[in-house]
Amino acid sequence: MDKFIIDGGRRLYGSVRAQSAKNSVLPLLAASVLTDKRVTIRETPCISDVSCMAQILRELGAEVCFHDDAVTIDSSNATEHTIPSALTRELRSSVFMLGSLLTRFHRAVIAYPGGCDIGLRPIDLHLNALKRLGVSIRERDGYVVCECDRLRGAEIQLDFPSVGATENILLAAVKAEGRTVLAGAAKEPEIVDLQSFLCAMGAKVRGAGSDLIEIEGVKELGGVEYEPVKDRIEAGTFLIACAVCGGEVEVEGVGAQDLGILLHKLRENGCKIHTKNDKIEISSYGRLKCNRRIETMPFPGFPTDLQAQATTLNAFCEGGALIVENLFETRFKYVPELKRMGADIEVRGRNAFVRGVSGLHGAVLTAGDLRGGAALVLAALGAEGVSEVLDLSHIDRGYDDLQGKLKKLGAEIKRVRV
Ligand code: EPZ
Repeated sequence: MDKFIIDGGRRLYGSVRAQSAKNSVLPLLAASVLTDKRVTIRETPCISDVSCMAQILRELGAEVCFHDDAVTIDSSNATEHTIPSALTRELRSSVFMLGSLLTRFHRAVIAYPGGCDIGLRPIDLHLNALKRLGVSIRERDGYVVCECDRLRGAEIQLDFPSVGATENILLAAVKAEGRTVLAGAAKEPEIVDLQSFLCAMGAKVRGAGSDLIEIEGVKELGGVEYEPVKDRIEAGTFLIACAVCGGEVEVEGVGAQDLGILLHKLRENGCKIHTKNDKIEISSYGRLKCNRRIETMPFPGFPTDLQAQATTLNAFCEGGALIVENLFETRFKYVPELKRMGADIEVRGRNAFVRGVSGLHGAVLTAGDLRGGAALVLAALGAEGVSEVLDLSHIDRGYDDLQGKLKKLGAEIKRVRV
């Protein structure tokens, strides 16, 4: 197991290019099973969630080959349709394999994906939608068994704009007989990217990015070579890192429209932000002001995946902030670690009440989940003195070479084997 050793208090300067989006590459890998033709995804980030999804595809009988910075999948020999429970537990987002396996094999068996460190994360919205498409679903010994004679288009209304459920519905509807109209769809940029990918395979999907998506079932889907959208959450993490540490940083690859309300909130803190095409420049000098209120919402609201990073920023700012986490039940588990650094934060249910302090001191910290771990790194970068961040397996799930990119910006950070 590795750890970071971080000597905080340094400003960040320079430019960093965002990786391909973890939350796009994962559904694209699931979509690769829709066809028996070859699929290549370029600029694949080197992160463990991708490795885990690759392992799931191999378990299904697909050939998965990483070469240079791309991954090629040939699922022509895939036959299996059961996803092993160990892998489902490790990677919750394997749940959107259901849609592509049902399209390919008309059968999918998946261990009930457990909750995780950020909440219960049920899959009722996924299963109810699949039933609308003609899928019979039963549970057996902790497994969800999904079967259908054929998939048929339907009108589906999502009660909540679930990202994963929206993706699963697209994957199950692209070759269904007839037309599917999905109302109440999630509007995240990763959904738009999945639509582009599916259309490049020959699917007929339109409306992604809005809450109404229409899918016309087609008979066949071809192979594709595709470069995913860049990671807006990684980009936002670097922008917030600069706000915490001070300095001037340019993040390339993500447009302002994909970060939406985050830029407004950073300006509210007192940062200077300039955007041009897919470049975002931030500069931060002197003590910033708290945001007063941040509420996480589905896109285009404040992203829940940047909540921990924004709470950390506010811990250093002047004044007070109320952070409301509306998407997940327990997404403040990193807060006790910040309090050990001197942060003044009180968590009550979905609310975190932050009183800014003039500075945090270094400590030995333990990451508990992906984005909470990233927030601890930001806190260590802004704190006076040396910190350690343990259990990097969480951070490695979603950040490709985080320490290398931060070091390039001037951070004093090294990764050592424990
Ligand atoms: C995706 O998770 C992302 N993961 C998450 O990013 C992100 O936080 C989340 O969307 C929200 O934006 C991937 O894309 C791989 P949801 P997903 O379905 O699809 C409830 C990260 O850090 N819900 O939109 O699981 C659910 O419990 C990860 O990169 C149901 O109630 O999120 C949650 O409260 C973390 N029933 C809310 O909806 C369902 O059937 C949002 O979930 C499905 C979801």
